[in-house]
Parts: sequence; structure tokens; C-alpha cells
Amino acid sequence: MRQAQRIAALPPYLFAEIDRKVAVKKAEGVDVISLGIGDPVEPTPQHIIDKMLEQVKNPENHRYPSYYGMPAFRKTAAKWFEGRFGVPLDPDEEILPLIGSKEGLAHLYLALTDPGDKAIIPDPGYPVYHTGAILANAETINLPLLEKNNFLPDYSLISTEDAKAAKLLLLNYPNNPTSAIAGKNTWAEAVEFCKQYDIALISDSAYCDLTYDGYVAPSVLETPGAKDIAIELISLSKTYNMTGWRIAFAAGNKEILEALGRVKTNIDSGIFNAIQYAGMEALEGPQDCVQEMIDIYSGRRDRMLARLEGLGWDVKACKGSVFLWMKVPDGYTSASFAEFVLEEAGVIVSPGSAYGPSGEGFIRMTMTLQDDRIDEAIDCIVEALG
Ligand SMILES: Cc1ncc(COP(=O)(O)O)c(C=O)c1O
Repeated sequence: MRQAQRIAALPPYLFAEIDRKVAVKKAEGVDVISLGIGDPVEPTPQHIIDKMLEQVKNPENHRYPSYYGMPAFRKTAAKWFEGRFGVPLDPDEEILPLIGSKEGLAHLYLALTDPGDKAIIPDPGYPVYHTGAILANAETINLPLLEKNNFLPDYSLISTEDAKAAKLLLLNYPNNPTSAIAGKNTWAEAVEFCKQYDIALISDSAYCDLTYDGYVAPSVLETPGAKDIAIELISLSKTYNMTGWRIAFAAGNKEILEALGRVKTNIDSGIFNAIQYAGMEALEGPQDCVQEMIDIYSGRRDRMLARLEGLGWDVKACKGSVFLWMKVPDGYTSASFAEFVLEEAGVIVSPGSAYGPSGEGFIRMTMTLQDDRIDEAIDCIVEALG
């Protein structure tokens, strides 16, 4: 059987590979601690679970969901967006529910690029920005996020030729993997750049509400005129500890959303209605659960920083996301340090190079495990390093 050429070009998914390595180590009897994937150990808040339990019993919800999401979910999402960012949106044309933002990101390429078209993606960046392009036979142009620029975009690193050829620009703040944050000016510059070159702007805002020390993440859509060219993806996964539920939505430019919606209606059949009701409960129900997670993560960040900086390690300040981005000790590459830490300490960290060439020299650690497991992981690494 012959596989498609695009499959040959498709690397194994980073975290699927990591899962495989964990399984091997576990089979050897090692108690592996994974600071690899950002998947909260805390449960989904009870009021959201209760709404799901109630709705799952209703036979009306057992049938195919409506393709573009329940009108009530779209309305709730629009109301949430206006309350959070002050940007009014038409729930029918400017909101599109997604089965998680990963799905939306991958399908966006089918909606916006033809084979050979180019997309500008952050380097380092969430792996689907690159693999989504491979699946659509599109090409990516790396936009290096450099430490000297606080991991923010510098468009002078993109040639005019590439800018003219690009069909879309993807950005993600608070950023995975660097944990960098953006101000309104970052979005204003992105909008200006994209308008100049007629590029669709995609803001992947998976961590917009997990921010610390009083920093509040802005939306790209707060920039005047952004809706002409931009959409933003909001995920419920991390904010409400709902990674397993698969629910998110895209907001903004209606032509982009119409194209994405058309792709989706031909591929998937929407989100289980009971999950949409649970998502509505998350967005419009009590929000103290979000503050509780912010308190947990900022406490963990301080705890991890104190330990890692105490060892003389260079860890980047984290005001958003659930990650710590750290320079590897001298003498290691990203991959060799991640390998060393797994082999000698039984701890999984993500090598920065897996997120793009500019991630070389860094590793990413997540803050989504219990404090005692994180302490144990750091103890094991310190011991392994002697
Ligand atoms: C930057 C970024 N975008 C998107 C996603 C996917 O999130 P979802 O669970 O909504 O598919 C993740 C998940 O880790 C992420 O880090």
C-alpha cells in the first residue's frame, strides 16, 4: 500500500512520540514524570460537569449537532468575547465553534491556502502550525521569535518576496512554548503588516486567560480594522481544565470563518450538543474557577523559578501560558538535554528545537502537574546532573 507523499513529509506528532517514550520507560519500571504536554491535572470545575450530566440525558442532544454549532453557543461565545475584550461580534457570522482549536488550526490551511501557497508561522511555535500546512500541501515561512526581541515578531526578518507570497500569518500570545506575552501594539503591528501584504491574520489565543501578575492579554480584534483580515481562536481547554472535552471557537472576519466553516461541514459534524451546553456553562457561569487556576499556576511558577534559578539556570519570566521556557545548561543541545533528563532522571521535558529551529538551546517545562510531582522532577534532574 502506497501512502500519500504528504504523509511521508509529516513528522510523528511531538506528544505522540513523547507518549511512546514514556510507555517504553514505564515498561522498564521507571516512574516517569512528564513535564512535557500542557494538560492540567486539576479536574474540570463541578458546575461544568453538572451541566454536562444534565444535558447528556436529553435525547434531543443525542442527534447530529447543527453544523455551525448551536445558535445558543454562538450567542454565548459572542457575549463572552464582548465582555472580555469589548469587541461586539455577530454570533451568526463572526463566531464559529470548533472541536478544539487544534482542529480549527489544521483545517484553516484547507480553507485559506492552495498547494504551494505560503504561510508565515512563529518559530518556535505550536507544531500544528507546520503540520497543518503539510497536510494542505502548503509551505511555511518561519518567523523567528528571538530572545533579544522578547520572543515577539520582527517582520524585518521576513523578505518582501515571502511577505508578498504569504496567504496567512499565525501568531500566538501568550506564547507556547516561550511563554512570552504581547501588548496591543504587537497586534497593531501585525494588522498593519498583514494589511500591507493582503495576508489573513490568525491569532491563536489558547492561553488568553491564564495570565499572571496583573497582566491582561489583549485580543487582536481590539485593533481598529482588525476584523477586515483577522480571526482569533479561543480555546476552553486550558482556561477551564477541559482539554479532553474538545471545545473552542473562532471569532472575527466572516469570510475566513465562512471558508473554515465550509471545510468543517464537509469533514466533521460539529460538537456534541451536551458539550456545547457545558461550554456555555463554562463561559457564562461563575468565573472563580479561572482565578483559582491562575493562583495555582502563578504559585507553581514562583516555586519552580525559585528552584531553577537557585541552580543558576536561565529561566524566562512567565506572565502567561502554562509553560516555563529555559535555556539548556552549557554543553547540551535541546535534544541532548531532553534525552539526558529522560534517561538519567526519568523526567520528560520538551526540547525547544521540536518547536522550530529558533527553539534550539531551550527546553519547555509545563506547570500542569501537582506541586509535589514537579518538586520530585526537579530533584531528579538535579541529582542526575550531579
Ligand atoms: C498554542 C496552542 N494552540 C492550540 C492548542 C490546542 O488547543 P485545543 O485543546 O483547543 O485543541 C494548544 C494546546 O496545547 C496550544 O498550546
